[in-house]
Amino acid sequence: MSIASKTAVAILISGRGSNMGALIAASLDDTYPARIVSVISDKADAAGLEHARGFGIAARAVARSEFDSKETHEAAVREAIEASGAKFIALAGYMRLLSAEFVRAYEGRMINIHPSLLPAFPGLATHERALAAGCRVHGCTVHFVTEGMDEGPIIEQEAVRVALDDTADTLAARVLEAEHRIYPKALAMVVRGEVRMTGDGTSQFRH
Ligand code: GRF
Repeated sequence: MSIASKTAVAILISGRGSNMGALIAASLDDTYPARIVSVISDKADAAGLEHARGFGIAARAVARSEFDSKETHEAAVREAIEASGAKFIALAGYMRLLSAEFVRAYEGRMINIHPSLLPAFPGLATHERALAAGCRVHGCTVHFVTEGMDEGPIIEQEAVRVALDDTADTLAARVLEAEHRIYPKALAMVVRGEVRMTGDGTSQFRH
């Protein structure tokens, strides 16, 4: 696949960016349908920025701390996305709740990875909560982004067995491996049009 025929994708991060790394690694394959044109962080010191630059990808911080409101910050993030030419957005550990307006602007073109089998455990501390609930199975989900937090239509999931001696850290590490498998797969499905978000807020798969 020539570079020009690949779909341009921007990734939004806040931290280490290991899922971002998995998407970049997948995108380097000739047959992968997306190329990563931009990485944007809301934190100036996100480790993922340097990692992305190492691959020659334009990576920049649009730091929340430099803006006086959520609105002006989001406007700057949108400007950076538009300037990159990205058609799709992958949130990869972006720790900021997006406004309804931002979400609407990229409806059906913005996806997120979450470390639980949604709809179980939206929000934070998912591994601790899965252990506290006595779950024997946990996992991760890629979903379209909608206004509700971690509520959008599901694109892909992978289940992970919970071991009897798991701690939140050991469980998180195995879930993260699964995240790195499903995120590239889900992004490819979305940009190929194999799954799309319908008007009634569900995922429709082409098969
Ligand atoms: C991942 O567990 C992801 O599911 C969640 O935030 C974490 C980000 O990790 N949304 P990384 O920055 O991709 O390493």
